[in-house]
Amino acid sequence: MALNEALSARNRNSADEFYTQLTDIEDELRHYRAQFKNKVVLCNCDDPFESNFFKYFAMNFGHLGLKKLISTSYAGSPITGKQLPLFDVEGLRAVRPVRDVYKVEITEVPDLNADGAIDLLDVEHLLRHDSNAVTPLGGDGDFRSPECVALLDEADIVVTNPPWSLIRSFIPMLLEHDKQFLVLGDQNFVTYREIFREIQANKLWFGYNNGGTKWFRVPDDYEIKTESRKKIVNGVKYFSMGRAYWFTNIDHSRRHEPLTLYKRYSPEEYQTYTNYPAIEVSKVSEIPMDYDGEMGVPITFLDKYSPEQFEIIGQSIELAEPMSRYAAKEDYACAAGRVVGGTGKFFVPLGSGKHRGVYQRVVIKHIGDKS
Ligand SMILES: C[S@@+](CC[C@H](N)C(=O)[O-])C[C@H]1O[C@@H](n2cnc3c(N)ncnc32)[C@H](O)[C@@H]1O
Repeated sequence: MALNEALSARNRNSADEFYTQLTDIEDELRHYRAQFKNKVVLCNCDDPFESNFFKYFAMNFGHLGLKKLISTSYAGSPITGKQLPLFDVEGLRAVRPVRDVYKVEITEVPDLNADGAIDLLDVEHLLRHDSNAVTPLGGDGDFRSPECVALLDEADIVVTNPPWSLIRSFIPMLLEHDKQFLVLGDQNFVTYREIFREIQANKLWFGYNNGGTKWFRVPDDYEIKTESRKKIVNGVKYFSMGRAYWFTNIDHSRRHEPLTLYKRYSPEEYQTYTNYPAIEVSKVSEIPMDYDGEMGVPITFLDKYSPEQFEIIGQSIELAEPMSRYAAKEDYACAAGRVVGGTGKFFVPLGSGKHRGVYQRVVIKHIGDKS
């Protein structure tokens, strides 16, 4: 992408400009420590002078036993070097190149200032003294550009919070290049066909700490409509998101913990959809332990999914027959009486108990331990 194209892209995608906090990165990364030993890590949407991903890996370089850390900046970022100097080390800001598109490559973080601890002062020292550590990129730093793809090919693991508007090309690119990765995204990305099919094939899953409230640092002019999702601390603006999930293909222990099930199936309690042969299970905790057929569950199930316990059959977006074949629109009324609609959803008709309505669901089946 040419520089002026990138600059207009930045205007279009200012919603992509929210910056991950170090605590959220630390909380997730501690579950994968052993898998990073001797690996080349790439943070490919991360201005090293502003990203906490770079900061985390630089400070934990020796502790994780990394082979190399690469971090690249992007010309389209409207905050570059302006509003979000996340590094509080004055010296680091001073060594930042004038040109704003560059890569940092680190192969060791020695205790250069000999204070007995590896910290950001050592990273600063390294960047000041090793002329190879910071080099300009020829292009705009777009993760899809040939020079960034060459860096991707050099890497073993990609860890970042990428531009969410480009997730449909970002995650498939990592899979195509056969990389391991840990990236932040919106829970709803699972419903995108190109993401869901990889989850279904067990090539992609959720990480460890999903949902909850994560606060992201944002530029001053970032628009936040809901007051409760905004806070300003020491003049810095933050935005909270409840649906930020980690997407990964690195194994972790929670993925193999089976859900404990306590409910038993009864046809009265679990209605069958009109437009697909599966039962409606409206809460993940109420998956019946003794039902062998297909079940429709909320997408939040995927955060509890263990591939030894369940098989993922598909999602309603792909499986649901159009409701118009079965009922008039008035029949789509939900329990509250409101008429709801939409294609790609499963339909439990009026008069069939408390779960009548239309639902967007993931379809699963027991394959293993039902306890
Ligand atoms: C959600 S923000 C996260 C930034 C940083 N990774 C973090 O977690 O703090 C996504 C970043 O990707 C950058 N970006 C947008 N489009 C990009 C592209 N095509 N290639 C590389 N980076 C891009 C944005 O400027 C923004 O800084």
